[in-house]
Amino acid sequence: MSKNKFPDNFMWGTAISAYQSEGNNFNNDWYYYEQEELKKPEKYRKILEPCGISCDHWNRYEGDFELAKEIGIQIHRLSIEWSRVFPQKDKVDNDALEHYKNMLLALKKKNIKVMLCLHHFTIPKWLVKMGGYMNGNAVIDNYSKYITTVVDFLGADVDYWLTMNEPNVIPTAAYMIGLFPPFKKNPMVSIKIFRTFIRMHAEAYGIIKGRFPNTQVSCSYLQTGLTPYNPYNPIDRLMVYHGKLFNQRFFDGIKTGRLYYPLGLGDKIDNLKGSLDFIGLNYFYRVFAKGFAFTDIDGNDFHGAYMGEGLFYPEGLYQKIKQLYRILKLPIIVTENGTPTNDETFRIKYLEAHIKEVYHAIQEGIPVIGYMVWSLLDNFEWQQGYKERFGLIHVDYKTQKRTIKKSGKWFSRVIKTKEI
Ligand code: BGC
Repeated sequence: MSKNKFPDNFMWGTAISAYQSEGNNFNNDWYYYEQEELKKPEKYRKILEPCGISCDHWNRYEGDFELAKEIGIQIHRLSIEWSRVFPQKDKVDNDALEHYKNMLLALKKKNIKVMLCLHHFTIPKWLVKMGGYMNGNAVIDNYSKYITTVVDFLGADVDYWLTMNEPNVIPTAAYMIGLFPPFKKNPMVSIKIFRTFIRMHAEAYGIIKGRFPNTQVSCSYLQTGLTPYNPYNPIDRLMVYHGKLFNQRFFDGIKTGRLYYPLGLGDKIDNLKGSLDFIGLNYFYRVFAKGFAFTDIDGNDFHGAYMGEGLFYPEGLYQKIKQLYRILKLPIIVTENGTPTNDETFRIKYLEAHIKEVYHAIQEGIPVIGYMVWSLLDNFEWQQGYKERFGLIHVDYKTQKRTIKKSGKWFSRVIKTKEI
């Protein structure tokens, strides 16, 4: 490898998710919670705005993938909306499956590899009525049915699988820190739900590998550089210690098949052992633990400082790559990295700094085999709505016009030259 040059087979990509981009998904929990929030007076709402039609990617995917091709994208990560495939408990919508098949084929025709994610935060509304994530067995039974259906129908056209996006995020964001609906703050419930996600992952891995033994399966996992705000404050340090342990136990579980404190007492989880073929790493920033709150480097509430420069910490990506490789010795794909900004100079600075850290890891002999920008298009940013723009492609939400941004053109050059 010549100086600063990425290997020829390194995969450059983008990522997006179904609910955030497709538009008009009316059958899942996030939509349900949006409607509940809208009933409240504006100042009490914890979700900025509803998703609505978003960037109408459901109908415009062909043109969007054309732009991805123009940028030079080699692998694209997208997700399936469970509630489209199963609008009712035991009823498959074959048209939806057919539509997803066409999406995958559109990528393949453009010679873009497909990474398919089977679950990106949302669950069908009918499952919420059965107790949602609190009813772990119902979630796992129905998830297995859904996975089997999708894998049988779409499996032949998938290059890389993610059983789910970030098994750690709904448990923490929705049940520990009250950021995502249903806005709970209960560490015990959070752990219970995290265990459900881990079981869902293990089941899905088994189903996919049972049908396609040679395919590559993982889940994407969010890693945040968690740091004590005051290194001398015992509470800040304790929070960081537990935060790290919470995440570390997932990867230990992949190694041993068992979950240890704080996720369990060494209990065995069926099919968990060895259930990753590569590591899917999502990394955005670092946060500081300040007592029981999370902040940016200046002590501002991390959520208010939404991914601004006070959270910028590219070295964290290198550190996470190193840590995870040390535990599992598996190839790594950065499955999400990006920043919400309208300032293209900052987006380019952000992406360049993080890609440099990937290069640093490769130079040390760690097999990082791909890197994906979050996101291909501007899209719906969960509780922050449309205020935040992550895309390499700008979307004018009024006209649905797409324009490749400066960062998109910059990324295009990186892909062509394989250099930063
Ligand atoms: C999630 C995305 C989200 C992004 C930016 C990731 O952790 O997977 O859905 O848009 O963070 O907040």
